[in-house]
Amino acid sequence: MPVETRRPLISGNWKMNQNHFEAIQLIQKLTYLVGKDDFDAVDVSVHPPFTDIRSVQTLIEADDLRFALGAQNCHQDDKGAFTGEVSPVFLQKLNVSYVIVGHSERRELFGETDATVREKVAAVLRNKMTPIICVGETLTEREAGSTAEKVTGQVAAAIDGCSPAQVGGLVIAYEPIWAIGTGRTATPADAQEVCSAIRSTVGGRAGAEAATAVRIQYGGSVKAGTIQELMSQPDIDGALVGGASLDPEEFARIVQYRLHESPGV
Ligand code: 13P
Repeated sequence: MPVETRRPLISGNWKMNQNHFEAIQLIQKLTYLVGKDDFDAVDVSVHPPFTDIRSVQTLIEADDLRFALGAQNCHQDDKGAFTGEVSPVFLQKLNVSYVIVGHSERRELFGETDATVREKVAAVLRNKMTPIICVGETLTEREAGSTAEKVTGQVAAAIDGCSPAQVGGLVIAYEPIWAIGTGRTATPADAQEVCSAIRSTVGGRAGAEAATAVRIQYGGSVKAGTIQELMSQPDIDGALVGGASLDPEEFARIVQYRLHESPGV
């Protein structure tokens, strides 16, 4: 599959922001700003908190909106005595398409390991949704020169047990931890270098076809002013946007990156 047939995917990870009333307002504002041409060129997913998903689903379906519905996490089991957890089966019932798995905040603050991430990837696939698998290094790891080792190790662990066809359908988000919520973005060249290493790892484990098909996002302080140059890198197919996805004008401009006049505008 040639590069140009990988559909770009811009995803808004709202994290623990927006109650369900605010979520509806945000989607309504985005609907005015993101048009048919944008959706023709780019896949756009929104990842509200669990308590908002039903409201956002209803709005998307009632108005035939082209935003894909996403979640930020799920449990690895389909059901059971797991107080406070959310089953992937329930998400699928709400027509969720994408589930973020192994975000660094889940790994760092909630103890998710590579083994948990692998189980969650399997759970999301089992329920016919697409995982967005997050990987990334800390500042200490970057300074120690172990970025590639850390990130490719996380990728290898997450896709272990997946068939080549499943791997080709995945989304992997490279999110350097030091760039998340800090205003520091990896340079496009640095981001490209790591995303290229991710694609090679995928190729080594699942074959060339999977490597060409898998979509790789960059995440970490993405803004309208930085998106175009990131997207011009050959191995970057999209962005996982945190803070800027809560501002409808900014997020719409990110989605419309291809209309910006020059890199950095
Ligand atoms: P920011 O865009 O706020 O840095 O967050 C990135 C992120 O963690 C998206 O998942």
